[in-house]
Amino acid sequence: MNGQSQDLGSTSPLISAHVRRPRAMIFFHWATLILIVLVVGLIFVREGIEEKALRTALINLHRSIGLTVALLALARIVVRIKNSPLPPSADMSLPAHLAAEAAHLCLYALLLALPLIGWALSSANGKPVSFFGLVTLPPLVGQDEDLADDLAEYHEAGAWLLLGLVGVHAAAALFHHFVKRDNVLRAMWPARQR
Ligand code: HEM
Ligand code: HEM
Repeated sequence: MNGQSQDLGSTSPLISAHVRRPRAMIFFHWATLILIVLVVGLIFVREGIEEKALRTALINLHRSIGLTVALLALARIVVRIKNSPLPPSADMSLPAHLAAEAAHLCLYALLLALPLIGWALSSANGKPVSFFGLVTLPPLVGQDEDLADDLAEYHEAGAWLLLGLVGVHAAAALFHHFVKRDNVLRAMWPARQR
């Protein structure tokens, strides 16, 4: 452990500036959470709707918001690399630190892979993918029903994997905050305006 870690376990609501995550990282993190709730929520709402035009509008919105998640993930990765190495936000054992890093890596991978699979799935179904009606993206693969079926399965499995991992990740963050009472969640929490 380096010298920075000595005061990291403090329960004080004040948090030293070097531990707080960069503002862009914090913004992208919580914006992604809101978008994921919307993207999955739209699928659940759509399941209860029969009308074809409304179903199409909802899946198009699902596609556009899902693509926004991928764009934000790219931006997040750039910000993350620019700010590497991040100072530790709490004193953690090596296995706990490695587990957190591995989970974060998987989350980044899923935030990119899932929208790409969704895009390819739409192309394989012969459905154009438009980004909020502003631009129509080129098809990622040719029309192919069997491929579309496979990609739909991967897309669904990937979505559940993402949600499961987010659940474990959020539980770990809450454990740090309420049980270990360290600065992990505070470091990612939006700062109050003075
Ligand atoms: C992080 C982003 C995304 C998440 C979490 C997500 C999640 C989901 C989920 C949970 C389903 C329902 C699966 C099922 O019950 O079959 C679904 C379906 C679908 N998604 Fe996504 N999705 C994302 C991004 C995208 C993108 C970017 C596109 C296209 C550009 C897309 C296209 C579709 C399509 C076409 C379906 C319907 C599949 C079918 O009819 O079986 N998704 N998505
Ligand atoms: C869609 C939901 C979420 C996704 C995709 C997500 C993804 C991520 C990723 C990729 C990181 C790593 C940042 C980095 O160091 O590069 C991270 C950090 C973090 N997330 Fe989440 N997160 C989500 C929801 C949540 C929720 C609900 C909480 C709290 C209850 C939370 C708390 C945290 C905290 C405290 C960190 C900082 C961890 C550290 O500094 O080691 N996240 N998140």
